[in-house]
Amino acid sequence: MFTIFLIFVAPLFRLGTYFSFRDLSCFLRSSVAGNSQNPLIDPIKDALFLHNFIQTNNTLQDCVFRPVNVKDMCPDPDVRYILYSNNSKQVYDHTQSDWLRQSFWDPLKENILLVHGYAGGDDTLPMNVLRDAYVRNGSYNIWIVDWGALGEAPCYRAAVNNMRAVARCTGEFLTILRVAGLPTERLTCVGHSLGSHVCGLISKYILFRMHRIIALDPARPLITNQIKLNVGDANAVHVLHTNAGHYGEGGRGGHVDFCINGGRIQPYCENGDIDAQLCSHIWAICYMAESLVPQLRKKAEPCSRRCPSGPRPGNRVGLPVLMGQSTPLTASGSYCVHDKEPPYCPKNPDDMGDVRCCLKAPSNRKIARVAGRRVKKLFG
Ligand SMILES: *[C@@H]1O[C@H](CO)[C@@H](O)[C@H](O)[C@H]1NC(C)=O
Ligand SMILES: *[C@@H]1O[C@H](CO)[C@@H](O)[C@H](O)[C@H]1NC(C)=O
Ligand SMILES: *[C@@H]1O[C@H](CO)[C@@H](O)[C@H](O)[C@H]1NC(C)=O
Repeated sequence: MFTIFLIFVAPLFRLGTYFSFRDLSCFLRSSVAGNSQNPLIDPIKDALFLHNFIQTNNTLQDCVFRPVNVKDMCPDPDVRYILYSNNSKQVYDHTQSDWLRQSFWDPLKENILLVHGYAGGDDTLPMNVLRDAYVRNGSYNIWIVDWGALGEAPCYRAAVNNMRAVARCTGEFLTILRVAGLPTERLTCVGHSLGSHVCGLISKYILFRMHRIIALDPARPLITNQIKLNVGDANAVHVLHTNAGHYGEGGRGGHVDFCINGGRIQPYCENGDIDAQLCSHIWAICYMAESLVPQLRKKAEPCSRRCPSGPRPGNRVGLPVLMGQSTPLTASGSYCVHDKEPPYCPKNPDDMGDVRCCLKAPSNRKIARVAGRRVKKLFG
């Protein structure tokens, strides 16, 4: 178990040495200030290298472990629910029995529960890219499950342990909303990495059926079968694979499995100056965001080969399906997408998308030089 943990964390620390921390913190600040088109900004990378890993004074002694199966643990002050709509947000207050009706929740819109992964939180990368894509689309009530305090770096093992407590409290939260009038029969839980398994675990703590789960590269390290997302966890389980076998689950996991560029490594992540595995794992978010824009969303073809692994499909039959938000609930099987460019990255200022999904080698010469040297040292 410990070896796996090291494999998971070690590359992240190694990456931190590619860049000067001071340069990176400037990027981070400027990127938070606004979605400018500055080509220097690579905030998702920054979030991983700096914000989530380097800029923490926590040690393993600070890790918080919630007991796994204790009732009466909810509401948990470290698990918050935040409703987002255009230009505003409201934090759920469990002491207010009439909260839903008083909020700006729109009963006519579909409900999306977004669950971040390790070292995430409310308004953190990469999940806020997807949140903003849903907000821009305008057809959804967006609920963020913020369990950041229970999944902080460097506490990956604690985060895995705490998923059950988070799922239990979220199950109770959904039950309250259901009683208050939220139609859970149309609710979709969208989870990234560990968040995918949280979506699955919620099914153990609710008396109704989860409608749909969209799992964005569900996490692999330390995930046992007891806590792993299962095809029985919702009426429809759709999985996007971008880093299968490394940070992401290696095998098929849903009614529909989307295998993006073979499911294991994304070609645009392999440009040398970043961790291609981590990048591939993160960019699942950008594929999902892209699916919320009708002009951009991608169709996937039934796979001709086993993908990402598991039983070989009998023969390549069936029609292509849309990947992401619009995947038909009746679809099943493995679907393949091929794509050379980073998804949801606008090429021109007027294009739809989010610059935070762009991946460019740093154009700052000093950083590029330093990064180049490091890469040579490590790989050549
Ligand atoms: C870490 O601790 C130092 C010294 O106490 C402090 O200046 C810094 O802001 C802390 N960093 C974070 C991310 O809390
Ligand atoms: C969000 O609000 C802004 C201004 O408040 C408006 O211009 C925009 O059209 C709104 N977008 C949606 C999706 O409602
Ligand atoms: C929002 O996303 C859904 C799913 O892809 C799509 O059907 C709908 O047209 C989108 N709405 C807008 C305004 O882009």
